[in-house]
Amino acid sequence: MERADMARTAEAADPAGPGPGTAAGADAAVEAEADAFIELDGVEKVFDVRRKTGFLKRERRQVRAVDGLSFTVSRGEMVGYIGPNGAGKSTTIKMLTGILTPSGGRLRVAGIDPSRERIRLAHRIGVVFGQRTTLWWDLPLIDSYRLMHRMYRIPDARYRENLDRCVELLQLQELLDVPVRQLSLGQRMRGDIAAALLHDPEVLYLDEPTIGLDVVSKAKVRGFLLDLNAERGTTVLLTTHDLQDIEQLCSRVMVIDHGRLMYDGRLEGLHEAGESERTLVVDLERELPPIEAPEPARVVRVEGPRQWLAFPASESAAGLVAGIAARYPLVDLSVREPDIESVIAKMYAERAGA
Ligand SMILES: Nc1ncnc2c1ncn2[C@@H]1O[C@H](COP(=O)(O)OP(=O)(O)OP(=O)(O)O)[C@@H](O)[C@H]1O
Ligand SMILES: [Mg+2]
Repeated sequence: MERADMARTAEAADPAGPGPGTAAGADAAVEAEADAFIELDGVEKVFDVRRKTGFLKRERRQVRAVDGLSFTVSRGEMVGYIGPNGAGKSTTIKMLTGILTPSGGRLRVAGIDPSRERIRLAHRIGVVFGQRTTLWWDLPLIDSYRLMHRMYRIPDARYRENLDRCVELLQLQELLDVPVRQLSLGQRMRGDIAAALLHDPEVLYLDEPTIGLDVVSKAKVRGFLLDLNAERGTTVLLTTHDLQDIEQLCSRVMVIDHGRLMYDGRLEGLHEAGESERTLVVDLERELPPIEAPEPARVVRVEGPRQWLAFPASESAAGLVAGIAARYPLVDLSVREPDIESVIAKMYAERAGA
């Protein structure tokens, strides 16, 4: 805690704000600076990759994983960080933790340059990579927590309080004595989230924390994150391929593709920007010709008595359903949300065509 306080003081004492202004303006600038908890300015990451192309033949190639990213995240924000496979999301998170060093640009988290002061930053951030665990594989879960207690020099009372809270909210009681390798994916993920929070980080990076989880486990993890943000003001940067994670947790969403920021704003705005569509699936009493739906809804698929209608995600389904129910023998229906990939793909296609 001492470290965190020191760093915070240093941040406030070093306002890289704009030139002179009114006293109020200067104050506002200092405040804005302190508020921008994560800052990226033209950040780049280029990987050198060597590929075997034949006998004794190798090809050197450069992959521009992150290509001039600039954004800021304020204290207490919950931001969704999304994009298709290979877009550069994990690479960004690795740079934000100091695991990877940027090839260019400027990066600060809590005023700290992550790759230069990785250890100092580690006391202020928590990170969960859904694809791999930070827990000790062969040890019972509780032993990993004990090790972190020591490693992070967490004061005893704080450690116990945080552990108790995580154990309760993430329902870990029964799992504490189980070796990590014996945990199911969902159990291990909850264990990993607790591990990332024992030292009271101010920011939590989550790289696909709900990957492979069942509906109940997903709901638990989401509920826990909402509480954490509301009660502790923890800043959260969340990478996911599940649009529902974003819908339920994040008021702001950033989309990256090919290492560049494509969109930064509200999720609703993303649907508009991508002109994404939802799908109404209707089951009729019997096989019928395609439903004549009011514009812009249209039938995109027919299979026996089941028909699929696409309509803009920004529009309510109620009117469409009522119109169809009045004219067709409806047995059942459901609405499918667009997935992130298709929204982005559409957005990208439109930009490319513009
Ligand atoms: N260590 C590495 N060496 C070489 N290339 C890498 C390395 N790490 C990532 N890349 C490349 O950088 C690009 C971005 O990868 P990254 O893992 O950041 O994507 P992502 O957005 O997290 O994707 P996903 O949704 O699949 O997790 C990809 O083209 C990937 O192949
Ligand atoms: Mg990734």
